[in-house]
Amino acid sequence: MFKFAALLALVALVPSFASAQVQLYGQCGGVNWTGGTTCVSGATCTELNSYYYQCLPTASTSASTTSSTVPTSSTSASKTSTGTSSAPSSTATAAAGNPWTGYQTFLSPYYVAEVNAAVQNITDPTLATKAAKVANIPNFTWLDEVAKVPTLGTYLASADALATSSGNKQLLQIVIYDLPDRDCAAKASNGEFTIADDGQTKYFNYIDQIVAQIKAYPNVRVVAVIEPDSMGNLVTNMSVEKCANAATTYKACITYAIEQLATVGVYMYLDAGHAGWLGWPANLSPAAQLFGQMYTATGKSPFFRGLATNVANYNALTTTSPDPITSGDPNYDELLYIQALSPLLTQQGFPAQFIVDQGRSGQQNLRQAWGDWCNIKGAGFGIQPTTNTGSTLIDAIAWIKPGGECDGTSNSSSPRYDSTCSLSDALTPAPEAGTWFQAYFEDLVNYANPAL
Ligand code: GLC
Repeated sequence: MFKFAALLALVALVPSFASAQVQLYGQCGGVNWTGGTTCVSGATCTELNSYYYQCLPTASTSASTTSSTVPTSSTSASKTSTGTSSAPSSTATAAAGNPWTGYQTFLSPYYVAEVNAAVQNITDPTLATKAAKVANIPNFTWLDEVAKVPTLGTYLASADALATSSGNKQLLQIVIYDLPDRDCAAKASNGEFTIADDGQTKYFNYIDQIVAQIKAYPNVRVVAVIEPDSMGNLVTNMSVEKCANAATTYKACITYAIEQLATVGVYMYLDAGHAGWLGWPANLSPAAQLFGQMYTATGKSPFFRGLATNVANYNALTTTSPDPITSGDPNYDELLYIQALSPLLTQQGFPAQFIVDQGRSGQQNLRQAWGDWCNIKGAGFGIQPTTNTGSTLIDAIAWIKPGGECDGTSNSSSPRYDSTCSLSDALTPAPEAGTWFQAYFEDLVNYANPAL
């Protein structure tokens, strides 16, 4: 069965030269769609929602069209969940224990390509050799705009084929990151959807498309970090008008994401800020209550495995000499934060496990203030991804922020300019958030600890 599905997927990848036909994973229909509606051989044009039909591998389409969980135009009209509806029953069964166990982590082709291109631009051969190693260290693929979602299908197909050819089961790491009114307390990562322009419906469609693709590859395990910064902002930034206005929508969107991703067996870690944000004693209980509320609202799915901390941040996992900027917070590193939060989550009925980003945490004592987050100068790649974490609460140390991708522009005339990105501890000049920042990448390599 597995081999049969993989074979069909490979057949579907053979390119067709008939120009009128839409390629695999291309759009082939939807409201106002004027492009082609016929898919290449091996793919079938499938309705994901009334706005988006996609050429999916024929094997997967036939599987998904027989399932009641596949969204159709009639169900999309009724997607106005506020987070109070009961979760749909999962069609997948969660494995007990650490989701990484028994799986090899698939390298993000997007990040590998970025790193390989960067290596070509490094003139110092010693640095280039070290930089090239980064391409072999697993990272997360950020689905930070809906246009990137079709690439997920191609990665899943590659991972599926690799599992067959190598005999090693594959685990693919993604970040769900497209909330309407995203990054509500800052500007640098403002996203493509707004609440005012029907962002909730668009977000549901974004999730539907991700779910449809994952459903087609049941043998590839997927781990997702859900919406960096979202919950942290709801705990501490409700005095910011944009965050206060977004709270209901954030909860509805994240509830929908967790419920839907659980139906296709995605193991999820909801973003929980970091030690210098939700780790302050006054923030721990409100944070635990919010996470408990989300866990309950989404039906306590075992696929909602826990929380992700330090995403795109710089904190140490453990340290014996706290950075002076952490003064006043007894939870001055990520392990202390996790150990403080965990019992409060248990009280809320949420037996959360954790993953911790250490991708840019190799060097410490770099920041002027703990709240500084933008392209911190002198940062180095940190502890490499491992499930040997030293804590039973932590499933994995991971590299979640793709090191070398920018946090935000230092160009003050950009609409997404955030003055944090011009502070004295930020490396400048910096390009737009998410785009490649070569000088920053080279520093991360140079200052990596442990060395590459
Ligand atoms: C920032 C960017 C986003 C990017 C992510 C990872 O949040 O806004 O576009 O995907 O960083 O680099």
